[in-house]
Amino acid sequence: RKDRPEAQALTTALAELHVHGASVEWESVFAGRDARTVELPTYAFQRERYWPEVSLSLSGLDAQGAADSVDARFWEAVEREDLEALAETLDVDGETPLRAVLPALSTYHRNRRDQSTIDNWRYRVAWKPVPDVAGGPLSGTWLVVVPASRAEDELVTEAVAGLRRHGADVVSLVADERDLDAGELGERLRAAVADAPAVGGVLSLLALDEEPCSGHPELPGGLALTLTLVRAMADTGIEASLWCATRGAVSVGRSERLSHPAQAMVWALGRVAALELPELWGGLVDLPESLDERAVARLAGVLSAEAGEAAEDQVAVRGSGVFARRLTRSAAPAADPATWRARGTVLVTGGTGALGGQVARWLVRNGAEHLVLTSRRGLEAPGAPELREELEALGARVTVAACDVADREQLAAVLAAVPEEYPLTAVVHAAGANAAGPLAETTVADAAAVISGKVAGAVNLDTLLGDRELDAFVVFSSIAGVWGSGGQAAYGAANAYLDALVEDRRGRGLAGTAVAWGPWAEGGMAAGDGGDQLARRGLPAMAPGLAIAALHGAVAGDDGV
Ligand SMILES: NC(=O)c1ccc[n+]([C@@H]2O[C@H](COP(=O)([O-])OP(=O)(O)OC[C@H]3O[C@@H](n4cnc5c(N)ncnc54)[C@H](OP(=O)(O)O)[C@@H]3O)[C@@H](O)[C@H]2O)c1
Repeated sequence: RKDRPEAQALTTALAELHVHGASVEWESVFAGRDARTVELPTYAFQRERYWPEVSLSLSGLDAQGAADSVDARFWEAVEREDLEALAETLDVDGETPLRAVLPALSTYHRNRRDQSTIDNWRYRVAWKPVPDVAGGPLSGTWLVVVPASRAEDELVTEAVAGLRRHGADVVSLVADERDLDAGELGERLRAAVADAPAVGGVLSLLALDEEPCSGHPELPGGLALTLTLVRAMADTGIEASLWCATRGAVSVGRSERLSHPAQAMVWALGRVAALELPELWGGLVDLPESLDERAVARLAGVLSAEAGEAAEDQVAVRGSGVFARRLTRSAAPAADPATWRARGTVLVTGGTGALGGQVARWLVRNGAEHLVLTSRRGLEAPGAPELREELEALGARVTVAACDVADREQLAAVLAAVPEEYPLTAVVHAAGANAAGPLAETTVADAAAVISGKVAGAVNLDTLLGDRELDAFVVFSSIAGVWGSGGQAAYGAANAYLDALVEDRRGRGLAGTAVAWGPWAEGGMAAGDGGDQLARRGLPAMAPGLAIAALHGAVAGDDGV
């Protein structure tokens, strides 16, 4: 071998022959060289890596792959000197000289970069089947908190009996509107487990109560009671984890309908409790329509595995197994955005707010003939008269109405006033309010103030519009409802409701698109300190132009949630 010393090349060749089974006379090879036999370790050499493994999710790769394949087609056309294909890609005349092509190339590149930014913002919630947890028997006393209105439900009695069969000593506590005081509920909790040698956990079935909360009808009773229960647990110091159960608050796949969007609010509240009060938090579990023996065993497994390594704290128990919630990257919509145009009248609730204004401009530029912009202040809202003028100058007819979207009669009047020549074709529900505060200090009244416009507004729109066919029914929700943001329990709950309502509407065959926005730049709720804090945590604000392009893509692609 030219590149290696002869002795080394020969020894290597002999070693290779040896490991391939040839018999080599090693004594002769090593004769006179003072060679000796040494002990080699008999175990396989073990190596451990301490570097994080970078793993791109499949859909992330898909998005990247799609971008790469578009670029690849462009460069292939350049390489082949295929003028026709290149002209088509750049949308120029094939005979156009290079000087004129440069702006087209620049636009092409900018568009590709913007599209890739937008595609990278896209995530969705997915449900991953996980092995049943054979967590063993439950131990200690389990306090099951039940809403008075559902105390006799089969699901409730099945859950209580099932937990007992799986080893728990069950104490039930029935709660009603008189328990909407955290101090008093805390006393009742303490008394309920006073004689228990050890409390294994607390399972709340309060979310099943969807009746309007007395005094705050914009909240389901179950949400108000759950909020009070969390605060009471934080006060009492009962050393046990709280699990909140729902039914039909999530859908784990296409074949399953999300039937109880109101209960989804407890999920968002729970995610914030997990962040702010981890010492008392157990998890969230969505139950099937009926709890048969297998489902009960799965529920017991989930509850008993809480402290274990494979513990999941956001699960759905179904006849087909246990599913865990995951946030995954979502592929870009397949449809060409240019295929969607607004027409007739479009109603924008919160239309005089920061994002409402951006949406209104987009709608008018894309064909809306008449816009109805609503907010409680209407034309009194800062900038509203100027916005109307600007939109009219763009050629649209504009109505700005003072209307609390949570007030069904006021909203019905706005809908009734839509002119016949421009029928209502689409709705963008962007009305909303936000107020941050620790969950342990959030009262039911605080929660109602934040939740009212978003949730009651969405319920009213959904109810008043009924089965009317719409080109789009878009709701502006927030990342706060998806992953839980500290200090935003009520806001998160309101947004989770919007996402769930859209799933529910789509299940009913109606239009629905929910966009859970991250922070927008240049004004709006996330401007100022809140936005700066998010940016410091790695969540930069989205440029409004790109956010609107993302919205257009989502609507054109008939994206759900
Ligand atoms: N800005 C962001 O970065 C961001 C991020 C995620 C999600 N979002 C969501 O996007 C939507 C718009 O946010 P924004 O930043 O534009 O906030 P904004 O500037 O405060 O606008 C909110 C609008 O909603 C109206 N509104 C509130 N409650 C109402 C009610 N009960 N009935 C009718 N109108 C009501 C407000 O006007 P009045 O007070 O006059 O009623 C205002 O016009 C909100 O739903 C928000 O949760 C925004």
